[in-house]
Amino acid sequence: MNKTRKLIIAGNWKMNKTVAEALDLVRGLKIELSTVKEVDIVVCPPFTALGEVSKAILDSNLRLGAQNMSEHNVGAYTGEITAVMLKEFSVRYVILGHSERRQYQRESNELIAKKALAAHNAALKPIVCVGETLAEREANRTQEILDTQVRGSLAGLTNDQMVETIIAYEPVWAIGTGKTATTEQAQEAHAFIRGLLGKSFDETVARRVRIQYGGSVKPSNARELMSQPDVDGALVGGASLETRSFAEIIKNSI
Ligand code: 13P
Repeated sequence: MNKTRKLIIAGNWKMNKTVAEALDLVRGLKIELSTVKEVDIVVCPPFTALGEVSKAILDSNLRLGAQNMSEHNVGAYTGEITAVMLKEFSVRYVILGHSERRQYQRESNELIAKKALAAHNAALKPIVCVGETLAEREANRTQEILDTQVRGSLAGLTNDQMVETIIAYEPVWAIGTGKTATTEQAQEAHAFIRGLLGKSFDETVARRVRIQYGGSVKPSNARELMSQPDVDGALVGGASLETRSFAEIIKNSI
């Protein structure tokens, strides 16, 4: 596939996998994907499996991501984890502002922007999630929502930091529902987001930022989605929990 931006496909395991199950999965992925060079491959286990998975993928082309982190650097924040703590496990990416956290933990754009800055300060690459709900899409508010989320969640980043940030467009109605956005819907949203980056940062930044699609990505729809000009990868939930389906998504995307 001829794109100037390298594809990045990440598995968001969410609240799944014990350490033993996590190791099973990455051992399989290492074998299946050992020859893949065209895609940045990232696995995002729960915190409890980061240490063991980190060791297991040391000698491979798999990279490690976390699913959340604190906006603070240290201190009395019970239950929280800092960017530096993630770095101890060689974590390189961190998912921020996933719609599940926006919904269940009430994360705001402002908070997500603080986390994105804290991630960059520790040289972690944030994967910042945005996306509209079904009600918002049906009310023709998709662009307005994306505009607010993109500007708000990326506020305060420098151009250099923005280039090292990944955006994941995840329409909430497509997450875990089996309903994928059509390729046209995905491309339209991605192009719109890239246009926003052009205005908030500049055209060079906009051209360089990778925008992933997320929401019921499967082996059968990956190729068509990835072939869209502004789709630069995927953030995969359910289908990233099994070696075969995650490996097929990646192979089908090349
Ligand atoms: P599914 O692939 O299970 O729809 O989840 C998408 C997602 O939320 C990835 O972050």
